Amino acid sequence: MSYQVIARKYRPQKFSDVVGQEHVTQTLSNAIEQKRIAHAFLFVGPRGTGKTTLARIFAKCLNCTDGPKSDISDEDPKCKEIADGRSLDVLEIDGASNRGIDEIRDLRDTVKYAPASSRYKIYIIDEVHMLTKEAFNALLKTLEEPPAHVKFMFATTEPEKVLPTILSRCQRFDLRRIPINLIIKHLSFIAGKENVKIDEAALFAIARGAEGGMRDAESTLDQLISFCGVEIREEDVLSMFGLTARGQITSLCESILEGVVETSLRQLNELSRQGKDLGRLLSDLLSHFRNTLLYKVTKGDLTLLEVTESESSILAAHAALCSEQTLTRIMEVFFGSGWAAARCCLEKDLS
Ligand SMILES: Nc1ncnc2c1ncn2[C@@H]1O[C@H](COP(=O)(O)OP(=O)(O)OP(=O)(O)O)[C@@H](O)[C@H]1O
Ligand SMILES: [Mg+2]
Repeated sequence: MSYQVIARKYRPQKFSDVVGQEHVTQTLSNAIEQKRIAHAFLFVGPRGTGKTTLARIFAKCLNCTDGPKSDISDEDPKCKEIADGRSLDVLEIDGASNRGIDEIRDLRDTVKYAPASSRYKIYIIDEVHMLTKEAFNALLKTLEEPPAHVKFMFATTEPEKVLPTILSRCQRFDLRRIPINLIIKHLSFIAGKENVKIDEAALFAIARGAEGGMRDAESTLDQLISFCGVEIREEDVLSMFGLTARGQITSLCESILEGVVETSLRQLNELSRQGKDLGRLLSDLLSHFRNTLLYKVTKGDLTLLEVTESESSILAAHAALCSEQTLTRIMEVFFGSGWAAARCCLEKDLS
């Protein structure tokens, strides 16, 4: 078989493969079981969190042999057809390149014809926010009362750009950013399948950089495999993306909390000299201070935090170093005006 990037090779094929979106998969499975299937669905969420994937799986559930059902099989020829993009009854349209009224009129004209060989004719319109206003309006009537054999599935990262009249005709599903621990678990599963050895800290660094998007995390892993071969260490991830090592972040935070200005400035200077991405560092520091504050306020309740075990002991130590007011003040300074203000504060203290 020809080479496929990890993000495509590991695209979930059924609901149980989808990571971190149980609130959506459960509702869709229930709708199928209770035979309460609406005619238009809108999947909303940050990039690479599973919108297109869920629309395709749902299309398989609706058009599979002996369906609609949620426990589909990879072997079912109907499902295979959809997964391979060969089904005549599941039409995927890219809203970005078919955004005009003519394309939507064409679509409207084909809606009335019965499906070729399946239960439903399913239109998946990706990036639906890219449609023009005229195209949206042309779609309205069809969306209001589509023929019984038609289902629409829309996906977008920018729901605020979709006309309210369209939104109100759809069942909306909001996908979440995927928590770091779930990304780590999934990447570790993929690495195992690909026979790649990767340490926990490297996985953590990739997941941290992906900001909740599984595709971004998988693409990073792909790039690292090309770069490092079958063994990946934290340093590889950090050097490739200009990220700061967990240990360096922790140690800088500690100096700030202990109020040792000179050490803080020296550490910061060293990181900058090493060419670390300072914007990224700022958000890493903010995230560490936020976690410390949460840890302190909740008296160590880890259910509210996305941290590994080793990190929780660091949070405990840092929480003991300062008051809630100090943490809030640090975050205000970092968050409000970024580096310039933080540096200015530190330098003022130093003089
Ligand atoms: N929730 C998830 N669970 C497992 N893998 C996922 C998940 N979300 C995304 N992926 C991975 O990322 C790839 C891309 O996902 P998908 O196309 O569904 O993202 P999307 O939300 O439609 O993104 P975009 O906004 O860029 O269109 C999938 O092929 C899969 O490998
Ligand atoms: Mg998509």
